[in-house]
Amino acid sequence: MDKQILILRGDGIGPEIMDQAIRVLHTIGETFGHSFHLTDGLIGGAAIDEAGTPLPEETIEKAKSSDAVLLGAVGGPKWDQNPSNLRPERGLLGIRKALDLYANLRPVKGFKTLTDASPLKREVIEGSDLLIVRELTGGLYFGRPSERRDNGNVVVDTLHYTKNEMTRIIKKAFESAELRSKKLTSVDKANVLESSKMWREIVETESKNYPDVTVEHVLVDACAMKLITSPKDFDTIVTENMFGDILSDEASVLTGSLGMLPSASLAENGVGLYEPAHGSAPDIAGQNIANPIAMILSAAMMLRHSFNLDAEATAIERAVEQAVNNGYHTKDLQVEGGTCLSTTDMTDQIIKQITKE
Ligand code: IPM
Ligand code: MN
Repeated sequence: MDKQILILRGDGIGPEIMDQAIRVLHTIGETFGHSFHLTDGLIGGAAIDEAGTPLPEETIEKAKSSDAVLLGAVGGPKWDQNPSNLRPERGLLGIRKALDLYANLRPVKGFKTLTDASPLKREVIEGSDLLIVRELTGGLYFGRPSERRDNGNVVVDTLHYTKNEMTRIIKKAFESAELRSKKLTSVDKANVLESSKMWREIVETESKNYPDVTVEHVLVDACAMKLITSPKDFDTIVTENMFGDILSDEASVLTGSLGMLPSASLAENGVGLYEPAHGSAPDIAGQNIANPIAMILSAAMMLRHSFNLDAEATAIERAVEQAVNNGYHTKDLQVEGGTCLSTTDMTDQIIKQITKE
């Protein structure tokens, strides 16, 4: 198989973890006989520095003519004081919108040997395995342009959704739940927000089309609590953009580190984008200590969702699991014993497992 992949390294640890995902992809290409053609593009702070904008038009064009996009991370203190249209994050939000990447899938699955890396009790998290389906192109992130009024004494951010935007992500979540254990938790704030009331109505209507999926509604505050007191009660969670952002960081605690969480951002028809759920971690950038696993697992999600290469994706996932179970980890994981490795050495261990299979 011949595929074109747009590589957006971005900022902070983005470039160094991307290099590791590329090494893994080359190994997969060699092992399974595929050619992955990589093209570089600019996004985030790197794009601001080189092209004066966080999302050059050229990047969007390259993305649209690729088979998939891999993205590292964006942001850093260097651009923190920039006006909002010149912030690296704008690049990320812009490409999500430009490619209509409405469905963000964030699987959260812990590894056995890392159970003690989580501050949560072993019996609480052991065996937890869930999928957060986050709406990615609407809500507070994409309301009317935010404004400061009345000499800066009033600020307005708007939460905007159309019925179609809600319906398509809810359908996607039902479809995802059907492929898993057929339990869907819809998370909202229907006791307060009108948007959540509409969301709940749509979930109820759509549930009739998926009779084998059990649906429950949970308010976001209660969900935040239950996620860490009884994570095993969840399987597939669907929620709007901002709630999904917050809950996915929280859920990463189950795995021991945000550095373990991959994600896929999918469009209805069109190119998909794959990126770790974590940020650019500027404090540890360039030191070869970042955890490459979320990025590598994001590449695996790309193989599965965009290229239909299930065996290849599984090979990466198994290799990661094997390497971790052999006691190898990176510095972000607070585990006793085992061997703490650099970014590149951790990747060596993963590649070793792939070539062994
Ligand atoms: C994420 C990130 C982004 C988001 C930021 C960097 C804009 O936190 O992908 O979860 O809020 O969506
Ligand atoms: Mn986030």
